[in-house]
Amino acid sequence: MLVLGIETTCDETAAAVVRLQPGGAGEILSNEVMSQIAEHAAYGGVVPEIAARAHIEVIDRLVQRALEHAGVKLADLDGVAAAAGPGLIGGVIVGLTTAKALALASRKPFIAVNHLEAHALTARLTDELAFPYLLLLVSGGHTQLVAIKGVGDYLRLGSTVDDAVGEAFDKVAKMLGLPYPGGPQVEKVAAEGNATRFDLPRPMLGRAKPDFSLSGLKTAVRLEAQRIAALTPTDVADLCASFQAAVVDTIIDRSRAGLRLFRETVGAPNAMVVAGGVAANGAIRRALMRFCGESGLRLVLPPPQLCTDNGAMIAWAGLERLSLGLTDDMTFAARPRWPLDANAEAAHNGKA
Ligand code: KG4
Ligand code: ZN
Repeated sequence: MLVLGIETTCDETAAAVVRLQPGGAGEILSNEVMSQIAEHAAYGGVVPEIAARAHIEVIDRLVQRALEHAGVKLADLDGVAAAAGPGLIGGVIVGLTTAKALALASRKPFIAVNHLEAHALTARLTDELAFPYLLLLVSGGHTQLVAIKGVGDYLRLGSTVDDAVGEAFDKVAKMLGLPYPGGPQVEKVAAEGNATRFDLPRPMLGRAKPDFSLSGLKTAVRLEAQRIAALTPTDVADLCASFQAAVVDTIIDRSRAGLRLFRETVGAPNAMVVAGGVAANGAIRRALMRFCGESGLRLVLPPPQLCTDNGAMIAWAGLERLSLGLTDDMTFAARPRWPLDANAEAAHNGKA
């Protein structure tokens, strides 16, 4: 079974063709990505209108390239999938409309994929992982711990009450004068810094519910930077190192709480899976390896190009849904917000 997957929810335009083999294994035949980082860099973040326009300009070419590199024609496909949200609505509409048009013209099933679900299921493509497992999703837009019990069966254990982890990295980088996107820069500079110089807060530490909070930590970095005023490169390095150490402690403590809640409510997970751009961070990866080693838990870290936004994960989620007979019709509208676990979202909003 062959599916084309299209991703346009943020600042990456991506298209990929993935094959589902009879035994259940997946094979990536092509995986094309075009990043818009250069177009947004001058603004220090993603500008929705620029993103939507940039998606329109490259999407046709990118889809063509994904088909060519996979050595397949539209007629060979068994379905066309697109991320229908959550994300920036202008961009989502571009990918969704393209996928619908291709499906309609080639008379193939259309599959609307939840972008978060695609991140969640990637470990089944890379490692043929069986359900259930614990997912830590840490990106620029999302920070969640989720029990992945089956296709479409997700239990959100915890999430951030304010900033996403990647967002906190980006904001700290910006306030310290480092270029966008900030995560990789903060990591690089932190390697030269003293992680114990600043005693920064670890919000939520010790709480039983595996939620995250990053904004207090971010503010603490700002206050320290303002106190010092003219920052030397050493100050910047020490602030980055101290911030990253606080994030590492927070992620491990929250993962421990998430694992405990998983074991209480779902049972024994087959693994812990980490996804999202922040999973590229070496200090975070090493800490998670230690944590999983101590907890007797298998750790699955998909390769960085499959942790960040890509088309293969959309195609794979499309394949998982298609093989269960789950397809969508042309009335499916873009969803700027689309929680993986609607119950958790309703409870959360009720409280707020
Ligand atoms: O998953 P992703 O590519 O895009 C979405 O947000 O969906 O994640 C991008 C985020 C950015 O906030 C970026 O700063 C962060 O991941 N990031 C990192 C690192 N590489 C990327 N954060 C910390 N350390 C890194 N090495
Ligand atoms: Zn993503």
